Amino acid sequence: MINVFQPSLGEEELKSIEEVFKSNWIGKGKKVALFEEQFANHISSSKDKVITTNCCSEGLFSSMQLCDIKSGDEVILPTVSFVGAGNAVCANGSKMVLCDVDKRTLNARAEDIEKVITKKTKAILLLHFGGIPCEMDEIMKLADSYNIKVIEDCAAGVCSSYKGKALGTIGDMGMWSFDAMKILVSGDGAALHFKDPELREKAEKLLYFGLETKSGYENSVAQKWWQFDISCFGHRAIMNDVTAAIALTQLKKLPLYMEKREAVHKYYNETLKDLEWIDLPLPIEEGCKTSYYFYHIQVKNGKRDLLANYLREMGVYTTFRYFPLHRVPGYGVSGNFPNADYAADNTLCLPMHQSLSNEDLETVVGKIKEFGEKYCL
Ligand SMILES: Cc1ncc(COP(=O)(O)O)c(C=O)c1O
Repeated sequence: MINVFQPSLGEEELKSIEEVFKSNWIGKGKKVALFEEQFANHISSSKDKVITTNCCSEGLFSSMQLCDIKSGDEVILPTVSFVGAGNAVCANGSKMVLCDVDKRTLNARAEDIEKVITKKTKAILLLHFGGIPCEMDEIMKLADSYNIKVIEDCAAGVCSSYKGKALGTIGDMGMWSFDAMKILVSGDGAALHFKDPELREKAEKLLYFGLETKSGYENSVAQKWWQFDISCFGHRAIMNDVTAAIALTQLKKLPLYMEKREAVHKYYNETLKDLEWIDLPLPIEEGCKTSYYFYHIQVKNGKRDLLANYLREMGVYTTFRYFPLHRVPGYGVSGNFPNADYAADNTLCLPMHQSLSNEDLETVVGKIKEFGEKYCL
């Protein structure tokens, strides 16, 4: 089976884990601190604004408390959002307000967001679909004019930028995932960025029980180092030196990964461009960069599901991300989202990862063309 997403792990990652084992400390320590510093450099920010956590979903859940979003406040989400974003808003007792998205990029635009702003709107939890940047100038202008917080879910946008700024560093808070299916993988893990370093301090406490004092040996200046106080009922959501060691190794490989992913993107563009029944992804806006996390096509003749099943039978796994929240019965939200509906019915994410061989790519494209000849002429 040709996977739709796949991590690239090897000897270097194993070696970095071995080093941690030998250090006799596998918990949160020097490797996590080093990764936070290097990740902050990678996104051209500073370590007083960056913290790691155990997963990006934790970032979504914590964002509610960190951005002071209360029960009853309204939070706008593109209906094409990750399920964890919807859950974070609802679990907080806030009102999830959905907006439509652009039919081709699947990103929410300022005009989509503005339509659903009310006096109760406290924040926008924005998704950069597959690391493709949203129109941040327009969105930030809108958010500023209504005094609304912007939280950026750029889980898959580890190398994405908007007019020279890394995605995730433009809004009040941003987050990236390093789970098993992302580009930079560490098993599980995530990084959070805050515009305001004070919020990073608040996050450090929230992500570790709300402790006001360092625990254990680090607190050894005190006479009774087992004493402590808390500032909030915090969680325990941290990376450790094993996952950070993997992440540090992967961070170095990102430029290579981007080169490969861009080549795959170009290959698909070039070989699929003559198929009239398919729309290819739109070019990225001038001055912006994507991380090439998804390669999403749109099947124009209503045969997306047929194509997905055909490919699966032929050993090519594809999928659709992200099933719109207004279609998830458990949320109980309805409304009119014609663009998201179009996208949900016609979009397909093709295999996209840095381990795809030329033979894999020829198979994917060959099978799509074969399907076209059988069912689309
Ligand atoms: C857009 C988006 N946000 C957040 C997450 C959550 O990331 P994690 O698996 O690190 O919790 C994911 C995971 O797939 C995602 O795709």
